[in-house]
Amino acid sequence: MKLDIIVLAAGKGNRMLSSTPKMLQPLATKPLLQHVIETVQTLAHHNIYVVYGYEGEQIKATMQNYNLQWVKQEQQLGTGDAVRCALALIDDDHHVLIVYGDVPLITTDTLQPLLDPPHDFCMLTAKLDDPYGYGRIIKNEKDQITAIIEEADADQQQREITEVNTGIMVVKNKLLKKWIAKIEDNNQQQELYLTAIVKEAHADKHDIKAHQTHNSTEIKGVNNIAQLIEAERYYQQRAAYRLMAQGVMIMDPHRFDVRTDTLKVGANVRIDINVIIEGQVSIGNNVRIAANCHIKDTDIGDDVEVLANTVIEGAQIKSGCRIGPYARIRPETVLHENVHVGNFVEIKKANIGQQSKANHLSYIGDSDIGNQVNIGANVVTCNYDGKNKHKTIIGNNVFVGSDVQLIAPITIEDGATIAAGTTVTKNVQKNELAIARPEQKSIKNWKKS
Ligand code: UD1
Ligand code: CA
Repeated sequence: MKLDIIVLAAGKGNRMLSSTPKMLQPLATKPLLQHVIETVQTLAHHNIYVVYGYEGEQIKATMQNYNLQWVKQEQQLGTGDAVRCALALIDDDHHVLIVYGDVPLITTDTLQPLLDPPHDFCMLTAKLDDPYGYGRIIKNEKDQITAIIEEADADQQQREITEVNTGIMVVKNKLLKKWIAKIEDNNQQQELYLTAIVKEAHADKHDIKAHQTHNSTEIKGVNNIAQLIEAERYYQQRAAYRLMAQGVMIMDPHRFDVRTDTLKVGANVRIDINVIIEGQVSIGNNVRIAANCHIKDTDIGDDVEVLANTVIEGAQIKSGCRIGPYARIRPETVLHENVHVGNFVEIKKANIGQQSKANHLSYIGDSDIGNQVNIGANVVTCNYDGKNKHKTIIGNNVFVGSDVQLIAPITIEDGATIAAGTTVTKNVQKNELAIARPEQKSIKNWKKS
């Protein structure tokens, strides 16, 4: 069987009430359409045709890394018209798989039975507890499918039918062309419904196969915000269960969001509640992530502990580090082995050497810090002069006392000690003590006036 795929993506998505085109609405931060494309491209196929209409340039630009044939539907006259736009480009003896860009959770496992063995016409149906909004599957007394009736056109009895059209079907192109040529817009919405081909196929005495999927969640369409959020929850739950099956201990799969499908996790990892993981993230072995952490575009090594309420973005965290609670690690930061970063410490664009510590209330930016350095409480690298950013360089085994300001650009060499309360404005040499604060005065027998 030679297979071409048509993805319908031309609808405006009015029901989303949003200025973002529906196809680009994010599900786990990735556009709806991209989910569908990534799924169907794994099937053995000839071409993928995407029928587009609204915001075409924006949609094309978003999907430019995929091998797609773009077909414009000039006017959104309905799903039947959208399919018709692509048919002329496809060989008659090919089969056509039609999927909707707003049914993003579909998996290849669910699509495969429609293709194998091949049929002239096979539809994917599902039974839904609440079939509202979906086309209903109409069958005759011989259990043959005779029509699909859309919600708006259905009578009370038809509305009670719970078997629905998922929108997904495989049809031999020659037949599809013939039936689509016959459909009319004599329905409530005055649209050319793709689903009207079922009636034509039945009138042609053609056998219509239906494959009913038992997974009633992944076939759900996204037409409004509530359905988008339901799809997000389902996606997250599925992702959490997959990770648990790989051995990740997720304390509550309902309170864990993994907004990426490239997450790599090692063995013996425990993730507490309300953790969000986004972008390119890898997590090593024996890692603990406590509650309410947000981790984005970061590599975390083995034996790392991330304590509660920590935010990490664009960083490399080497093995044995301990971060948080309440720490913020910003892009271009590298924490080498066994670094400790404590509460209310912000680190940006800094390279911090092995076993160094910044445990309380500090800002470290644009810095290069050696090994076994102690950064006391309330240390600030003053990296910005109002116009430019400057660098702080600290060697190995340096002790920076509490409440120190390091006015960059500045270099503090190996083994130096900076006394508490010092504002460092000049470079400090190897093994020196730098102290800059008024000497303490003592006035005897002082009384408050
Ligand atoms: C459609 C089906 C319905 C099915 C449901 C499953 C029809 C007539 N109805 O209803 O039987 O149960 O999906 O989710 O097919 N589109 C175009 N051009 C158009 C109109 C729509 O490309 O002129 C695209 C949309 O972008 C969308 C898809 O086709 O991706 C479905 O359109 P939509 O309006 O959402 O149809 P539903 O009402 O959901
Ligand atoms: Ca829809």
